[in-house]
Amino acid sequence: MAFYAGKKVLIIGGLGFIGSNLAHALVQAGATLSIVDARLEDHGANDFNLSGIADQVSVTMADVRDRAAMTKAVSEQAVIFNIAGQTSHVDSMVEPWLDNDINTRGQLVLLEACRAVNSEVKVVYCGTRAQYGAPQYTPVDEHCPMLPIDIYGVDKLAGELYHFLYQKICGLRAVSLRVNNTYGPRHQMKHAKYGVQNYLLRLALEGKEISVFGDGNQQRDLNYVDDVVQAFLLAGEKEEAVGQAFNLGGQEPLTFVELVAKLIQYAGSGSYKHVPYPPDRAKIETGDFVADIRKAQKILGWEPKVSLDDGLKKTVEFYRQFKQHYF
Ligand SMILES: NC(=O)c1ccc[n+]([C@@H]2O[C@H](COP(=O)([O-])OP(=O)(O)OC[C@H]3O[C@@H](n4cnc5c(N)ncnc54)[C@H](O)[C@@H]3O)[C@@H](O)[C@H]2O)c1
Repeated sequence: MAFYAGKKVLIIGGLGFIGSNLAHALVQAGATLSIVDARLEDHGANDFNLSGIADQVSVTMADVRDRAAMTKAVSEQAVIFNIAGQTSHVDSMVEPWLDNDINTRGQLVLLEACRAVNSEVKVVYCGTRAQYGAPQYTPVDEHCPMLPIDIYGVDKLAGELYHFLYQKICGLRAVSLRVNNTYGPRHQMKHAKYGVQNYLLRLALEGKEISVFGDGNQQRDLNYVDDVVQAFLLAGEKEEAVGQAFNLGGQEPLTFVELVAKLIQYAGSGSYKHVPYPPDRAKIETGDFVADIRKAQKILGWEPKVSLDDGLKKTVEFYRQFKQHYF
C-alpha cells in the first residue's frame, strides 16, 4: 500500500498474532516501523513472529501502562495500531484486575501520551466482537446494543469509548475495528484460553480428540488473519474512517462443530466428541455470532478475500513447517 511508504508507524502489541502479521505487511509496504510489546505472560509474543523482517523493525520491550515509555513511543508517529491487550475471556472472569489494568487503564495511559505529544495522530484500536456479548440479533451490525457478558468485553468496550472520547478532547483521529474470531499463522498454540480455533487445530494436527462443548451448533464467523491485516491497513489510511467503528467478519458463517470437522479434515488427523459445557465456559458463551460487515465494505472498501478452506490449508502448512516455535 503506497500510503505507508516512508511513514512512521507504531504497533503496540506487535510481537503477538495480529500485530506481527500486520508488521510483515507494513514492512512490505515500506513503513518505518516500530513495535512496543510487554511480552505479557501466557500471551502471543514470540520473536519468531518477526522472522524475516526483524532487522527492519525497531522493537522496544515496554508496557502500554508505562507513561514514560508510551510518551516516547507515540511521539512523531503518523499512525499507531493499538493491538496490545489481555485477551483471555476466561482469565478476565477469574482474575479481573489484570484485564482491567491493561484494557482500560493502559488505554488511558496511551491516550494521555498521545494528548501530550501527538494529539491528532491516527490511532486504530483493536476492538472485539465480545463488546456485543450474546448479540440481540444477527447479523450483528454496528447499531446492535453492546452488552458484554464478560469482564474482557466490558473493558474492551471501555477502551474503545476512551478512544472516541479523546477525539473530542484533543482531536485524536480514532478508528475501531471490532475484530471477529481470527485464525492463521503466528498465533500462540500452547493453550485454549483465547483464539481457541487455533489451539484446536494443534490438537487435530497432533491426532488428539477435541472436546466440543454442548451440541456445537452455535454459528461462528471467522477471518483469516491476512484479511484482518488488510482491514487495519485500510483503517489506518482512510480519513473517512475517523470516528467510526467497524465490524469484521468472514465470507460464510458455519457452526462450531462444522468448523471442528474442517480442522480435522485439513489436519488429516484428530477426532471430536461432545461434552457438557464446563460452568466457566457456559457463562461466557455468546451463542450465534454472525457479523454484518457492510459498513466496512462501504467505507473502508474492505472484503474478506480468503475462504475458510484456503485459509485453513495455509494455516496447516505454516504450523507443520514451524511447529517447534509454537507447540
Ligand atoms: N485473535 C482474535 O481472534 C481476536 C478477536 C477479537 C479481538 N482480538 C484483539 O486483538 C488484539 C490482539 O490479539 P492477538 O490475538 O494478536 O493476541 P496476542 O496475545 O497474540 O497478542 C497480544 C500482544 O500484546 C502484547 N501485550 C499484552 N499486554 C500488553 C501490555 N500491557 N503492554 C504491551 N504489550 C502488551 C502481548 O505481549 C502480545 O504480544 C487484542 O487486543 C485482542 O483483544 C483478537
